[in-house]
Amino acid sequence: MRNGGEIGIIGLAVMGQNLALNFARHGFRVCVYNRTPERTEGFLRDRVRDEPIIPAYTLEEFVRCLERPRRILLMVQAGSAVDQVIEALLPLLEPGDLVMDGGNSHYADTERRMQNLAAHGIRFLGVGISGGEKGALLGPSIMPGGSAEAYAMVEHMFIRIAAQSEEGPCCAYMGRGGAGHYVKMVHNAIEYAFMQGIAEAYDFMKTALGMPVEAIAETFERWNEGALNAFLTELAARVLRYRDPESGDPLVERIMDRAEQKGTGRWAAQSALELGVPAPTLTVAVIARTLSYFKTDRERIGAGFPWPDQRLGPFSEGVLADLEAALNLMLLAAFSQGLWLLHEASRVYSYGTDRAEVLRVWRAGCIIRARWLGFLREIVREDPEDPHLLFSARFRAELQQRLPAAGRVLRWAFEAGVPMPALSTAVDYVLSMRRSRLPANLIQAQRDAFGAHTYERIDRPGVFHTEWLD
Ligand code: ATR
Repeated sequence: MRNGGEIGIIGLAVMGQNLALNFARHGFRVCVYNRTPERTEGFLRDRVRDEPIIPAYTLEEFVRCLERPRRILLMVQAGSAVDQVIEALLPLLEPGDLVMDGGNSHYADTERRMQNLAAHGIRFLGVGISGGEKGALLGPSIMPGGSAEAYAMVEHMFIRIAAQSEEGPCCAYMGRGGAGHYVKMVHNAIEYAFMQGIAEAYDFMKTALGMPVEAIAETFERWNEGALNAFLTELAARVLRYRDPESGDPLVERIMDRAEQKGTGRWAAQSALELGVPAPTLTVAVIARTLSYFKTDRERIGAGFPWPDQRLGPFSEGVLADLEAALNLMLLAAFSQGLWLLHEASRVYSYGTDRAEVLRVWRAGCIIRARWLGFLREIVREDPEDPHLLFSARFRAELQQRLPAAGRVLRWAFEAGVPMPALSTAVDYVLSMRRSRLPANLIQAQRDAFGAHTYERIDRPGVFHTEWLD
C-alpha cells in the first residue's frame, strides 16, 4: 500500500510512544496501536503534533494500515503479553511480514517465538533497546538479533533513529536467534554491576570518610572528567545534587534503601552459571539488590551485631584517588566478565555475535555508555576470537596499576564496616584469573576422599583414585 505505515508500533507506554515519535521525526510513517484506546488517544492529544503518526483502534485496522511486507515492533510488557499479542496478530499477517519484540524478553522466549513464527513464514527479531525514555526519543542504542534477512528489512530505519557516536550509528546486527536480547541482557548485567560499584563508592565516601552529599556529588563530577567518564557517573552526581523540594535535603538521603529489579540481571547470572562462565561481579550485583530488600531483617540483625563502624581519620586526596582507581577496576572486571559471557553464549548458541560491534553499539545512547568502550573495542578487535580481555597485555596493565589502590580501599572499607561486594569480587576475580595454581587441588582431593570422584595429577596423565582414609 502506498503511503501506508512503514513501521507499526504496538504498545504505547512511554518507550513505545517515544520510539514512535523518534521514527516519525526521522520521516518514517508510523502506525500505532495500543490495547487500551484511551492511551492512544492521550498520546495523539498530548504528544503528536505534525508527525506522520497514524492511529489504529483495532488490530485489523492496524495491520491494514501498514505497507507490505509489514514491519511491526512490539513494545508491550515483557512476558505473556508478548505471546498474547503475537497470537492475536498471527491470523492477520502474511508470509514475509516481520514482527519485532523491543522489550526486555528472555532470549529463550525469543528463540521460541522466532521458531513458532517461522513455521508460518513470519520473520521475527528480538531487539534489545537501551537508553531509557530519553534515549528512545532522541537516539537509543539498538541491539537486534535474528535472521540477517529480517534485519535487512529494518536496518535503514534503525540506523536513522539510533544514537550516533564518533564510531557510527549505535545499531548493529547482534547475531542469530536470541542474540539481540542476550546482548541486551548482558548490557543490563554490566549496568547492575556499574550501579552497584557507584553505590559502594558513595557508601564509602559517606560512611568511611564522612563526606557530605554535596562533596560526594562533586567527586563523581570530577571522576566524570577522567577515565570514569560515563553516563552513570554523571547521573550519580546529578541525582546526589537533587534536593527534595519539601525538606531542602538531598532527596537521595530520603529514599528507602531497597533496590528493585525486573529480571535481566538475574537472567544473566543464571545464564553465566548454566554456561559455566564465572561472572562473580555481575552476579553479586544482583545479590546485593536482593539483599538490600531485607531491610527489617537487616535492622534487627544490625541492632544485635555491634561493629566499630569506625570513620577513618582525617584523609588525604589520595584516598579518593584510590577509590576512583578501585571503581575503574571494578568496571573493567565487569566488562571482562560480560564479554567472556557473550563469547561463550555466541559459541554455544551459534549466535555469531561480533563483540567489537556490541561495544560500538554501547558507545552512545545506552545506559552503560562510557569512555572505556573505545579502549575495550580496540582490545577486542586486536584478537576477536580471544574470549578474554585479560589475554591483552594492555588490558592487564590497566588492572594491575589499579590493584594496589583497590586493595587499600577494601581494607579501609572493612575497618569502617562498609560492604563492597562488587569491588571485592572484582579484586578476587583478577587475583584468581592471574593465578596459574589455585587451591582447587585440595577440593579435588576431598571430593575423591568422600565420594571417589577421582582426580587428575599435574605430574602425569590419567585419572586417579586413592583410598585416602584407610
Ligand atoms: P511501562 O512499565 O512503561 O508501563 P510496560 O509495562 O513494559 O511499560 O508495557 C505496558 C504496555 O504493554 C502498555 O502499552 C500495555 O497496554 P495497555 O495500555 O492496554 O495496558 C501493553 N500490554 C500489557 N499487556 C498487554 C496485553 N496482554 N496485550 C496487549 N498489550 C499489553
